[in-house]
Amino acid sequence: METTARIYEDLDRILITRDQLAQAVHDLGKKITEDYRGKDLMMVCILKGAVVFFTDLIREVDLPVAIGFMAVSSYGSGTSSTGVVRIMKDLDQNIENKHVLIVEDIVDSGKTLHFLLQVLNQRHPASLSVAALLDKPARRVVDLKTRYSCFDIPDAFVVGYGLDYDEKYRNLPDIGVLHPRIYQGTES
Ligand code: IMP
Ligand code: MG
Repeated sequence: METTARIYEDLDRILITRDQLAQAVHDLGKKITEDYRGKDLMMVCILKGAVVFFTDLIREVDLPVAIGFMAVSSYGSGTSSTGVVRIMKDLDQNIENKHVLIVEDIVDSGKTLHFLLQVLNQRHPASLSVAALLDKPARRVVDLKTRYSCFDIPDAFVVGYGLDYDEKYRNLPDIGVLHPRIYQGTES
């Protein structure tokens, strides 16, 4: 998709280009390959936001990795967290004694991951870590450490490369700041 495509008119600006994303995902895949060599690794995609990052990332990991999917809901259609996290779809595999790496699109308040880590820790994995594509440190309300994260970003609402606003824009190949006119008047 060219950056002149009509969907780009809804962006204020592009924050991370597809080339920067590809490079970062490649580098992260290499790190994960080194760190988990010889271990029984399961990578868990948090649907739906992480799906594009996840499918790119697993192909950069040179290990016989198992994959799993979970869906949680933390936001409604607005641009800030409600704090209420619910599991909409759970893993269908046992993670006991497995090295689990949660793959998440973005850590914002940290509430979603905090909840997920609590839930999955109760299932006694051999280890439990997080790989997040984006981090918005300025917005953190829960103390939370991610083992891997690719980009720190400013406090702006971003879309693309899996991230949505109201279920849209996930298919943008780049990550951009959504133009405020798109969500103005919808915040409660
Ligand atoms: P947290 O619980 O506040 O850390 O929110 C994490 C979730 O909120 C992420 O998994 C995203 O789905 C969503 N989110 C947070 N910030 C953004 C953003 O800037 N754009 C799109 N989704 C976001
Ligand atoms: Mg989302």
